[in-house]
Amino acid sequence: MFNSKIIGLGKYLPENIVTNHDLSNSIDTSNQWIIERTGIEERRHIKKGDGNSTASMGAEAAKIAIKRANISKNEIDLILFATLSPDYYMPGSGVLVQKLLNIPTCPAMDIRNQCSGFVYAIATADQFIKTGMYKNILVIGSETQSGAIDKTTRGRDIGVIFGDGAGAAVLSRSPSKDSNIMSSHLHSEGEHAEELIMESPNMNKWVTEIVSDNDPEDLSYFPYMNGKHVFKSAVTRFEEVINSGLNYNHLKAEDINLLIPHQANLRISQFVQKKFNLRDDQIYNNIMRYGNTTAASIPIALTEAWEEGKIKDGDLIILAAFGAGFAWGSNIIKW
Ligand code: UT7
Repeated sequence: MFNSKIIGLGKYLPENIVTNHDLSNSIDTSNQWIIERTGIEERRHIKKGDGNSTASMGAEAAKIAIKRANISKNEIDLILFATLSPDYYMPGSGVLVQKLLNIPTCPAMDIRNQCSGFVYAIATADQFIKTGMYKNILVIGSETQSGAIDKTTRGRDIGVIFGDGAGAAVLSRSPSKDSNIMSSHLHSEGEHAEELIMESPNMNKWVTEIVSDNDPEDLSYFPYMNGKHVFKSAVTRFEEVINSGLNYNHLKAEDINLLIPHQANLRISQFVQKKFNLRDDQIYNNIMRYGNTTAASIPIALTEAWEEGKIKDGDLIILAAFGAGFAWGSNIIKW
């Protein structure tokens, strides 16, 4: 059995900044409402024609992660791509990154676990490394939310939250037992699948029907969220899955050097911080700048925290996420 560790991190954010004030020009909302309910001040949206896509942003983040890992792209044994907003219905975005990075024939796999996608992908990569099947794995979380959200007052509950961006990590076989992914804890509960959903297009409602219906009132093409239900479930599941990781490894909340929660809502993060009695320097939040970038939020935050010198060798880092599915999980990492 081998151990795995993160040896390189990268992030990519599109240049176009959309502030709360920008949104309030076209939506009945306000800077004050958005900050009070979510903590978000601005987010990034790609612009039509600026060359950005889910795969291209993932590839840019990956280039930085591979460079910092100090390996060649040809040493990558597997690409795992977490997203809820793939470039195409098929094929997945993992193979598009492979094409953009010009990596010949390693396997590429998409992981469709929405906000928890990156945590699921890290857990998956860790298992492949632990068994010895692969040595270096590129894990990407990337999202283009701006193309799908309803940018009118009708969709304001969701429209003000989501942002675009990408983050990436290179996992590699660890030479040391003291620095590794200690454990991962994953859960799903399909009973709540329809509480956070983008229903169409789907195989029962395909292009011919979309075109023939041409119904501007059909909301099934926009993401839908039962916000209060998701919020309540999130705070419970975050607490549970962080506790699972701590208990499994015989650790306590005071041992945490940095908790990086999925950036869903600043109020959720603050709730979790209070539950575990964490100091401000034990939790990382950047939702103010980027909004909720679903599968990209943890790798963007992890990269930013590392760039700011907030992660040091030997630190206990916890990644935790909750989102559509419902699916949730945590990775417990000794850096
Ligand atoms: O990443 C995946 C996981 N996602 C999450 O964990 C998100 C969880 N949910 C949330 O973060 C919150 O539920 C939201 C931020 C989405 C919404 O906040 P809320 O406090 O639950 O507000 P609400 O939906 O209950 O709406 C309260 C009021 C409503 O007006 P009335 O009915 O009280 O008159 C809404 O119409 O706020 C109104 N509202 C808005 N007003 C201004 C909803 N969205 C907006 C908006 N601007 N953008």
